[in-house]
Amino acid sequence: MSTLIQGGLVISATGSVPADVLVDGETIAAIFAPGRGPAEGPNVIDATGKYVIPGGVDAHTHMEMPFGGTFASDTFETGTRAAAWGGTTTIVDFVVQYPEQRVLDQYQAWHAKAAGHCAIDYGFHQILSDVQDESLKAMDELIAEGVTSFKLFMAYKGVFLSDDGQILRAFQKGADNGAMMMMHAENGAMIDVLVQQALAAGNTSPYFHGLTRPWQAEAEATHRAIMIADLTGAPLYVVHVSAKQAVEQIAAARDRGLNVFGETCPQYLYLSLEEQLGAPGFEGAKWVCSTPLRSRAEGHQDHMWQSLRTNDIQMVSTDHCPFCMKDQKEMGIGDFSKIPNGIGSVEHRMDLMYQGVVTGQITRERWVEITSTTPARMFGLYGRKGVIQPGADADIVVYDPQGHTSIGVGRTHHMNMDYSAWEGFEIDGHVDLVMSRGSVIVDSSGYVGRAGHGRYVPRGLSQYLA
Ligand code: URP
Ligand code: ZN
Ligand code: ZN
Repeated sequence: MSTLIQGGLVISATGSVPADVLVDGETIAAIFAPGRGPAEGPNVIDATGKYVIPGGVDAHTHMEMPFGGTFASDTFETGTRAAAWGGTTTIVDFVVQYPEQRVLDQYQAWHAKAAGHCAIDYGFHQILSDVQDESLKAMDELIAEGVTSFKLFMAYKGVFLSDDGQILRAFQKGADNGAMMMMHAENGAMIDVLVQQALAAGNTSPYFHGLTRPWQAEAEATHRAIMIADLTGAPLYVVHVSAKQAVEQIAAARDRGLNVFGETCPQYLYLSLEEQLGAPGFEGAKWVCSTPLRSRAEGHQDHMWQSLRTNDIQMVSTDHCPFCMKDQKEMGIGDFSKIPNGIGSVEHRMDLMYQGVVTGQITRERWVEITSTTPARMFGLYGRKGVIQPGADADIVVYDPQGHTSIGVGRTHHMNMDYSAWEGFEIDGHVDLVMSRGSVIVDSSGYVGRAGHGRYVPRGLSQYLA
């Protein structure tokens, strides 16, 4: 079965061109000058006046993640369906190893959770919380399985935290086998003391989540991770960067020629300590995540937009880790440290970042680059994902720049959450049609995909490394 997407403006990271895209089976067969495609045969999708872009690649999600005494509320089924609604056609989710768990057992468990349930394609990163000989050996085995990136944590003592010696050992392995080392860069020891002091002083509201995870804790840990990367020769990808001082560390490392990369998330571009975490009563719990939302008065959000323009920060993921208010976030009433950390955004990333085009913060080509092309290249998916070119998977979004999207008013979103962190956001733009490997999964009638369409995608090594 072939389909011609006709009349649109095809946008890539390097430029935009009016063109017709021929899809044959699961892949892109050819790209034609407007009107030069086959006149008869294919189904036609009219994209006149619309943007035709590669499907979004969200390289940081946590479906069904066991965390904070509960589980992230989206399953692979609900979370990938919501992603599809928003124009994301690939996720890379995190397999979790907690202390004393075997890495390869966890990897199999994540396959069991995802297989047969996903609306879109998916890959895995591996979280390491117990760096010892067996875990290090498993890193080699996972690379052969297409899991080519490993996340470590400098915070969450007793849960995820690795000490500097453990991080050094894992990075040495990454330098050796070509893996991308990912870091949750916050100084956990500093944070733990500040949290205890705040609670002892009776400061229990969600606002203090932000105050007890100051930018100094993020910048210090980012610097330390860079030093360990420099020492070992491992490439480093710093996840969910929120502080401008952490960006400065990454920019300085890149200026020195190191393979250091930074990811931010929509929440660090739009939301703030004052407005969201500081909302009255327990409301701020909706936006408790780590790293935390930063002070707008200190200029972190503006600096983050600037960093996206200058490529000091290379891409935008969601860190989708949703929890409901009822029974989940509510666990932290009277003690902010018990609020499960995470925000749900997997459905809205493409729209929220398109808003940066509307406001003139980024070009439409940069929009495609930071949401699709760079994530694909960073994590060894490029060629198949992240680009509209012959031979690539036909993961395609038809986006209407004249359309409109109202986010999260009531239950209009599709994530399994009883609120939206983005309630009230109005987007000038709309996801009209989503194709995943040649199948239309979202169109004007809504979601028309199916659980189980999405397949596991083994990844190669990062295409940013020589
Ligand atoms: O608050 C967050 N970010 N929750 C998800 C876990 C993580 O650290 O990425
Ligand atoms: Zn993290
Ligand atoms: Zn995360």
